Amino acid sequence: MPANVLDGAEVARQTRNELRARVEAFTASRKRPPGLGIVLVGHDPGSEVYVRNKLKSAGETGLRADLHRLPEDASLVEVVAAVRELNASGVHDGILVQSPLPAALGPEAEQVVFDEVDPAKDVDGFHPVNVGRLVQGRPFLVPCTPLGILELLDRTGTPIKGRHAVVIGRSDIVGKPVALLLLHRHATVTICHSRTVDLPKVAATADILVVAIGRAGFVTRDFVKPGATVIDVGMNRVDDREQARKLFPEGHPRLAAFDRRGSVLVGDVHPEVWEVAGALTPVPGGVGPLTIALLLSNTLKAAEARS
Ligand code: GUN
Repeated sequence: MPANVLDGAEVARQTRNELRARVEAFTASRKRPPGLGIVLVGHDPGSEVYVRNKLKSAGETGLRADLHRLPEDASLVEVVAAVRELNASGVHDGILVQSPLPAALGPEAEQVVFDEVDPAKDVDGFHPVNVGRLVQGRPFLVPCTPLGILELLDRTGTPIKGRHAVVIGRSDIVGKPVALLLLHRHATVTICHSRTVDLPKVAATADILVVAIGRAGFVTRDFVKPGATVIDVGMNRVDDREQARKLFPEGHPRLAAFDRRGSVLVGDVHPEVWEVAGALTPVPGGVGPLTIALLLSNTLKAAEARS
């Protein structure tokens, strides 16, 4: 029997609908909407799409959202100045600096810039103060994708307490914070990564498997215990037909879509896992839409806390 679909797009719709009423109440009582300031440096194509979707979704939910664009060759001083301006703004409750920053700014640039964001406005949850609060189990602003994953598990009635969660990936944006959130909900948590010995064997002990490594179709059926809940955080563009063919058989609608467009968006989990897992998030339409919904939720949370 194929796995149940964990419909992130539907859960995101529910979350945004509930938020809309709270945003209206905030706007009526404070005489202004909650405000989000986004800093985008350069023209990374992926970032352009993400930022457009964030602005659109914020507007539809009743928030104010402003984009502060900087050129590809902006200096670190200019990026920091944009953040400081938003820190001082009375109408912006949340600040998001879209990652990745241009490589020319240097390897330390992101940390320098994220450290500048006022922790009270840090809707990405990347500032060390917010990271520390999460580690200590007294979270304030938590990274949006991990929050979205917990929202999806909760709203689909997936139990967490006492179960074994395996997280593949140890990034600051997804792997580490989702592991902490699951731990605080009393899961037994294992974090795996590229150097883990016998990775498929460890993954196959999971009741809940979260995959965030950025490698198309990496997790095959041998990584998955029959009936497990699998959360695919990957979003990879495949533009090589041979690679697409390894994911989808001839005649599959996604391969036909590849042949029309020359590329296809796929997760880190191989489609054959649908035959083994108990429940699985599709890509697209799984975790992605929830990240944006939780960004709006974090902005409202920051706005309420600030006033
Ligand atoms: N780039 C990809 N995901 C994210 C995210 O969650 N926040 C920011 N700021 N940039 C990103």
